[in-house]
Amino acid sequence: MSNSNYPVDMGVKPDVTPFFDPATNTISYVVKDPASNACAVVDSVMDIDYAAGRITYDHADQIIAYILEKDLKLEWLIETHVHADHLSAAPYIQQKLGGKLGIGDKITVVQETFGKVFNEGTEFQRDGSQFDRLFRDGDVYQIGELTAFAMYTPGHTPACMVHVMGDAAFVGDTLFMPDGGSARADFPGGDAATLYDSIQKVLALPDDMRLFMCHDYGPNGRDIQWETTVGAEKEHNIHVGGGKTKEEFVKFRTERDAQLDMPKLIIPSLQVNMRAGKLPPADESGKTFLKVPVNGL
Ligand SMILES: [Fe+2]
Repeated sequence: MSNSNYPVDMGVKPDVTPFFDPATNTISYVVKDPASNACAVVDSVMDIDYAAGRITYDHADQIIAYILEKDLKLEWLIETHVHADHLSAAPYIQQKLGGKLGIGDKITVVQETFGKVFNEGTEFQRDGSQFDRLFRDGDVYQIGELTAFAMYTPGHTPACMVHVMGDAAFVGDTLFMPDGGSARADFPGGDAATLYDSIQKVLALPDDMRLFMCHDYGPNGRDIQWETTVGAEKEHNIHVGGGKTKEEFVKFRTERDAQLDMPKLIIPSLQVNMRAGKLPPADESGKTFLKVPVNGL
């Protein structure tokens, strides 16, 4: 059953277990193949107290404990994009449980941009080699017997991808819940018109496909939610639903973005996430530091 150009198998319904991180309003997921004990982790979160320069792994430890308790085999760690609002815990989880770490192949564009912003030396490779797999648009991969594919959805960032696994799609920051709209498109390499086109690709998936958000901020005081459907987004999304045109979207998005502050954790997030969630190398004293570029963002 498919009404898109992608290899969607709506008959396969993975078990999706969410892990909400209240510090960054991020939702991480464990996605389990219904036919085996294989699983994937999508968009994990490292805990940081930025004011104190302290990192911990309570959120990731919850995910690890869940996978061990259910006796699952972690095959993939998926990053939907280089997040600017939280730090990835993928290498920490990978070290404990194995699995391959994957992101969109346009990570190289992001590494080029922020390698310059943070004045990284030549030891910082800008070829995506920190990851095990660089997905190209339409790439298909397996989580046990569950077929997944990566769909290129730039606009919020140049490396954004939506990952479709059976009847479930992990939309990253292309879309928020219908009453949350869409993510900003003003980061370096972001573009509102491109984001609109990418959202149309997501909305071309089957109407009853489940969509899982990377973020929710509980607009208008409602409880946190993370799951909707393509059909609900098409009809009700406040930024793109009900047939909103590209022109309307670009005008709205551009005006809104001009008023937004930078995310609180953008500086540590980019430095770590462009390295696939690893901290910068220790200096000659053996200590690890994060930089703050003055007037550099
Ligand atoms: Fe993001």
